Amino acid sequence: MASSKQLMAMIRSHAAGDDDRFLAIADHIATDASKAGHHRMAEELRTLVASVREASQERRPSSKPTPIAAPRGELASLVRVTFPETRLSDVVLSDDVEKRLRRIVREHRERNLLSESGLEPRRKVLLSGPPGTGKSMTAAALAGELGLPLFTILLDGVITKYMGETAAKLRIVFEAMQGARGVYFFDEVDALATRRGAENDIGEARRMLNSFLQFLDEDASTGLVLAATNHQELLDRAIFRRFEATIRYDLPPPDHVRRILAQRLPQFDLSKIEWESVTGAAKGLSQADIVAAADDAARDAVLEADGVLTEEALLRALGERAIPIR
Ligand SMILES: Nc1ncnc2c1ncn2[C@@H]1O[C@H](COP(=O)(O)OP(=O)(O)OP(=O)(O)O)[C@@H](O)[C@H]1O
Ligand SMILES: [Mg+2]
Repeated sequence: MASSKQLMAMIRSHAAGDDDRFLAIADHIATDASKAGHHRMAEELRTLVASVREASQERRPSSKPTPIAAPRGELASLVRVTFPETRLSDVVLSDDVEKRLRRIVREHRERNLLSESGLEPRRKVLLSGPPGTGKSMTAAALAGELGLPLFTILLDGVITKYMGETAAKLRIVFEAMQGARGVYFFDEVDALATRRGAENDIGEARRMLNSFLQFLDEDASTGLVLAATNHQELLDRAIFRRFEATIRYDLPPPDHVRRILAQRLPQFDLSKIEWESVTGAAKGLSQADIVAAADDAARDAVLEADGVLTEEALLRALGERAIPIR
């Protein structure tokens, strides 16, 4: 029978809209039932999970992009479109950052009300912070919350070494933005808007920055424009004026480490974990490292410890993710 922990984890993943996790827990319950000799129930549960999984795959918008949003021609090499189902509740954030992001979502949901008073939602948001702290995940969550497609600008395709061509490609992207409402995500924007270019192409770097600034100024689309950077200090100051909010991401404090692990490992009993040593072992790791360590520990638990996740396994997994300080 399902344990109360498993039931709670299922309710939590239902509330977060995380179908994959919900079904993964159901799989676990089937395995437990089978081990306990309830083979018939295990079999029925497995069949049910498989059919729900199949039906939800068919329903997923990501497997069937709507024609209007599918970039064609040259645009296809400049922009990738996805339809994220991520929600803000999936991202472990400080209260302050979460509040700010929810306010932006609300402004977009209630943009008609704002417009009655001659106001507009904030549309340009800069996300800044170290790698693996949740910037790209936030872009997906904002798209998921607003039910909009996420257009990720492929800067490798946009930035070329030919004079003036980058501006032409940026124009294609910004023109597309006027046509399809969505969340437009300029990841690693420092590549486009750095203060100084490499010494030998400083002229082109400046031209690229200027055209980006100009397109941002002229942009009259109605979706969200997000930019992310690991190197805020490299960005040209003129960029900051164009963004209506800057949101700062950081490595996780101990309570976030615990929340991320608990969220990632709902199928395991974590009640005996001594959190202080676990969060200590996660010092210096990013949220992405912790998620990866959680998955490592889960694999070990299943393959080597009969599905029991020990503190030792967690400590080992976190230790293996740590980069030795030289
Ligand atoms: N705040 C968070 N809460 C929960 N999971 C997170 C968080 N941040 C990162 N993760 C996990 O790590 C993965 C990678 O994070 P993400 O791509 O959002 O990092 P990033 O800040 O965009 O990094 P980079 O600067 O390298 O692009 C996510 O898909 C998620 O599984
Ligand atoms: Mg990213």
